[in-house]
Amino acid sequence: MINASIENMIDFFCDKRNRSTWHKLRIANFPRFVKYPTSQVSGWGLTSCLQIGYIEYMADLMEKIVSLCKRRGFVFPSSEIYGGIGGFWDFGPLGVELKNNIKSWWWQTMVQIREEVVGLDSTIIHNPKVWQASGHTLSFTDPLRECKSCHQRFRADQLKGEKCPECGGKLTEVKQFNLMFETFIGSAKETANKAYLRPETCQGIFVNFANVVDTIQPKLPFGIAQIGKGFRNEITLGNFIFRDREFEMMELEYFVKPGEDEKWFDYWLKERLNWYLDLGISKKNLRFFEHPKKALAHYSKRTVDIEYQFPFGWAELEGMANRTDFDLKNHAKSSGKDLRFQDEKGEKLYPYVIEPSVGVERIALALLTEGYREEKDKKETRVVLALNPKIAPVKVAVFPLLPNKPALVKKAREIYDDLKNCFNVAWDDRGNIGKRYYSQDETGTPFCITVDFETLEDKKVTVRDRDSMKQERIAIDKLKEFFQTKLA
Ligand code: GAP
Repeated sequence: MINASIENMIDFFCDKRNRSTWHKLRIANFPRFVKYPTSQVSGWGLTSCLQIGYIEYMADLMEKIVSLCKRRGFVFPSSEIYGGIGGFWDFGPLGVELKNNIKSWWWQTMVQIREEVVGLDSTIIHNPKVWQASGHTLSFTDPLRECKSCHQRFRADQLKGEKCPECGGKLTEVKQFNLMFETFIGSAKETANKAYLRPETCQGIFVNFANVVDTIQPKLPFGIAQIGKGFRNEITLGNFIFRDREFEMMELEYFVKPGEDEKWFDYWLKERLNWYLDLGISKKNLRFFEHPKKALAHYSKRTVDIEYQFPFGWAELEGMANRTDFDLKNHAKSSGKDLRFQDEKGEKLYPYVIEPSVGVERIALALLTEGYREEKDKKETRVVLALNPKIAPVKVAVFPLLPNKPALVKKAREIYDDLKNCFNVAWDDRGNIGKRYYSQDETGTPFCITVDFETLEDKKVTVRDRDSMKQERIAIDKLKEFFQTKLA
């Protein structure tokens, strides 16, 4: 059996350093690679083979993930029956569970278990003055160039050369394009009524700073967290759900004493890296990217991205910024309200803010990438989504061995009805058991239960583990306890 996980494949290549093995593997694992004639590939050095093979493998992996997401109901293109709409995605029956699990794990670990962090749910549309004070109306821009022939638009900083990459046409000069979506409040579409869909959730936190402080009377350091939709009229899209025009953000604004900001920045960087490791993302697929001083956002003293090795390369998963007192000071100045914090000694100060900020869709894509495995045996390929059980959309699937045996169906239904009060449980009675196992493996269900004829005698069921494929007999009255331990 070949375990075709990225980790195993790359380790395998690096260990072997043997071109003939590489060629065999190339043919076995990269059908797309066949387009390169063997004679041509034989002339290449091992490094080129590995690099090209890796790129091919990753492109193939991305295609497989996209196809799995569509086929099994994780992600659908939005408004698909009308041809879709670029940068917008709908999450299907399994996708919504996956996203909800990511959000609730973030909320549990970032808010609920932390005494000093509270939550907030602010509106998507704020008074437009918020975006003036935050600097977004002026500075939330990307450099844009348009092709004069085909009218495709590109991010100027991502273009190579002076010609349109699509048709070779001439490009316009660079202009700054504001990424905020505009909307109008009330019945008249006038400039005076113009508002924006929020491009980040944190401004809702800053404008509610005094409200929250008054209600909870915290000591520094303390945090306010929010999960909610963000909207950005991105110029370039692609890479599936990585860069969207509508997405969900999870942001924590952690208010600290000025002078302690650097210490807390390091603390949060470590915490957030560990959060991903705990979810099962391997260390070698995560790294930090320190933003150069001269490229920092207008509000930031320091920014470090946690990058993930997506199938298309290393890219930002989460951003960590030291926003200093920029936002509170600007909102205070702009609104005329005193947004200083009064400490234990009665001294008033503007706290500094450390901000871990991440998009739910990026975490979902990272987890799908990380978890996707193909295991080949002589007969067929088993596709497994090795998701952390906490995040897996369905926790347990229940099967009667045979769907046409009422006694088995009745017992399986009883178990299903009982477990569904505690976990997200699926029911499946189609096809043979092997097919049902494979079907659940592909969507990441950690455990399957089969009710067979023996169950009716010994009151035990077969519990099969997704990763090891091991099966064990568990008493029906011990099932809840068993899963509670396994899924904790
Ligand atoms: N409040 C800080 C802020 O908005 P950002 O780096 O622009 O910082 C934070 O965005 C995170 O939001 C990113 O690290 C990424 O995970 C996610 N994100 C940003 N733009 C996105 C987009 N167009 N589609 C999906 N996720 C996005």
